[in-house]
Amino acid sequence: MRCVPQQGGILQVFIPPPLPSDDKRWKIVNGTMRKNGFARHALIETLHTVQSAFGYLDDDSIRFVARSLRVPLSQAYGVVTFYHYFSLKPPGKHTATVCAGTACYIKGSAKLVEAAEKRLGISQGQTTKDGQISLLTARCVGACSRAPVMLCDGEVMGEVSREQMLEQLERWAVE
Ligand code: FES
Repeated sequence: MRCVPQQGGILQVFIPPPLPSDDKRWKIVNGTMRKNGFARHALIETLHTVQSAFGYLDDDSIRFVARSLRVPLSQAYGVVTFYHYFSLKPPGKHTATVCAGTACYIKGSAKLVEAAEKRLGISQGQTTKDGQISLLTARCVGACSRAPVMLCDGEVMGEVSREQMLEQLERWAVE
């Protein structure tokens, strides 16, 4: 909180904390909070965004969200442990996150997810049994002009074809 003097008193301005790292997925998380004006009611939606972007929530991410939305840490942990959707366990060694936002959907992201599910033998939100690959989906990751978009361990891959995606999964699978 920063105090800014102005006529008739002092205005308190909330400055959100810096992003935990330059991993592009934090920008997605921040986007969710910004869209909601960093209001406390955005807690579940924001935790949901962290879960879909990273595949799980660790202590650092829960603290970051709690600080950014100014909710008690205990409340954030309460939400994470109450809903089965949230996972505190890390995902696979690699994470393929297919963007399921409108622009990407129009360009066939649902077919990418379907093909990836078939190749990996898992559903979105799950990790292969060998712990090698997690398949996730996210809402718009902010690169609509390059739709359909997939994040490979957080790196943006634009205009991705089914073949390119399957090749990437193949590379990870045999590592
Ligand atoms: S909808 Fe996929 S990047 Fe915007």
